[in-house]
Amino acid sequence: MKQILKRILVFVLFLFIAIQMYQPAFNIDKGKAATKDFIRVYKMPAEVQTLFRNSCYDCHSNNTDYVWYDYIQPVRSVVESHIKEAKNDLNFNEWETYSNRKQERLLNSIKEQIVNRQMPLSSYTLMHRKAKLSDDEIKTMTEWLKEQSKVYE
Ligand code: HEC
Repeated sequence: MKQILKRILVFVLFLFIAIQMYQPAFNIDKGKAATKDFIRVYKMPAEVQTLFRNSCYDCHSNNTDYVWYDYIQPVRSVVESHIKEAKNDLNFNEWETYSNRKQERLLNSIKEQIVNRQMPLSSYTLMHRKAKLSDDEIKTMTEWLKEQSKVYE
């Protein structure tokens, strides 16, 4: 019995080391100025800027602020796939390239996601406490968002 357990343990350890070899590309866009960025386009109050940066930009932009365990598989792959999906739907760095219609739809969608507490993802806020939005922060963001949508009404 002990022998089998030992073998299983060695196998699991081997597997863990083996999967570390797979390293997808990092979401780091060094030096490129994000001139079409959401925060730049709207010139929002510093408080609102910070909330978007802290809670959304790790997934919805071209630059992720990685933490140590993001480098370890299988977390590494999960993180990269979240970023890929998130950027596909909404990349804050590329906001100005979106059509008015798309911007309008996204502003609404952002508001919905925040109010319903679907974003930021709970798997993320579990480890990134700073990104978790309080009731007051949600209110600050949604009020600002409502003001922006008026432009399109
Ligand atoms: C940990 C990564 C992560 C963080 C942080 C995150 N998102 Fe997302 N977001 C995703 C993923 C993955 C999707 C696509 C799949 C889904 O909808 O669950 C998504 C989808 C969305 C969508 C849907 C876009 C559409 O097509 O309508 C919106 C809006 C959105 N996120 C807004 C936000 C906002 C606002 C924040 C910050 C308050 C945020 N997200 C933080 C990962 C993230």
